[in-house]
Amino acid sequence: MSDKSASPSPFKNIIVSKLDNPKGLKVGKVQINRPEVLNALNIELMGEMLRALETFDKEKDVGCIIITGNQKAFAAGADIKEMASASAVEMYVRDQFSTWNKIRKIKKPIIAAVSGYVLGGGNELAMSCDMIIAAESTRFAQPEIKIGIITGAGGTESLTKAVGKAKAMEMILTGRIYSASEMMDAGLVTRVTTDELYLDEAEALAKEIASMPPIAVQIGKEAILKSFDTTIEGGLEYERRNFYLLFASEDMKEGMNAFIEKRTPKWSGK
Ligand code: CAA
Repeated sequence: MSDKSASPSPFKNIIVSKLDNPKGLKVGKVQINRPEVLNALNIELMGEMLRALETFDKEKDVGCIIITGNQKAFAAGADIKEMASASAVEMYVRDQFSTWNKIRKIKKPIIAAVSGYVLGGGNELAMSCDMIIAAESTRFAQPEIKIGIITGAGGTESLTKAVGKAKAMEMILTGRIYSASEMMDAGLVTRVTTDELYLDEAEALAKEIASMPPIAVQIGKEAILKSFDTTIEGGLEYERRNFYLLFASEDMKEGMNAFIEKRTPKWSGK
């Protein structure tokens, strides 16, 4: 994927760019762009999203990724109009929510920079990312119950793991709306900012991460995610083996030598 440049975008529903980062690797940015329907996530959009993320994941000059929407909506959920007349068999064959699962397989860290509505599949998309930076007026909810369904893109798993059973039950069974500060207290959100600053804050965080040694960043992400589906013993073992593995990287030698020589490390990504 090229920098903000001349060639026409291959995407209809997202805007893709790369942010320069003088201190390290670039930041890949995906902006959801269906403002007329509050960024409702249809199948085409999610296919484009996955393609963009998988491309950033392969590109050596990208160290961290941001997914964002606009001030009014990160995303108001899966596209209800696309699902309303579908049969169970059609939904099964479409298997549309497997895209969200594939986003969880992206190796580079992903930050959701959210504002406005973060509803249903929108919140599930944010939870498929690794961190959430939220504008203070963001409204979070899993409102699926109000249209006769439950979460379909992993919400019962990811929300319960993020906020615990008691809060996840309340959210999923009532569809109530929660503020950014409530979701911060509940553990869903990394940081809340003023409405003006959420994207700046997300970009600063992404650039900070993209300035770290990339292999250690990816392995750190992998090990944290591992903790969700393993025992403590299994997770500790996984962490230790990956800790040892990093001693094979040039960046480990560089990082420790730079510390001893009192200089700034220069990462090679090897
Ligand atoms: N799907 C399709 N279209 C949507 C949408 C959605 N999820 N959310 C909003 N829109 C559309 C509206 O239909 C409307 O389009 P038209 O102008 O063509 O009528 C446009 O966006 C603007 O929306 P509203 O007029 O409703 O705006 P509002 O300010 O009055 O209300 C809102 C905003 C409270 C967010 C309201 O739009 C709403 O309740 N949206 C649906 C939220 C929802 O139920 N999300 C869950 C979807 S199911 C899901 O996500 C399943 C899953 O687990 C993956």
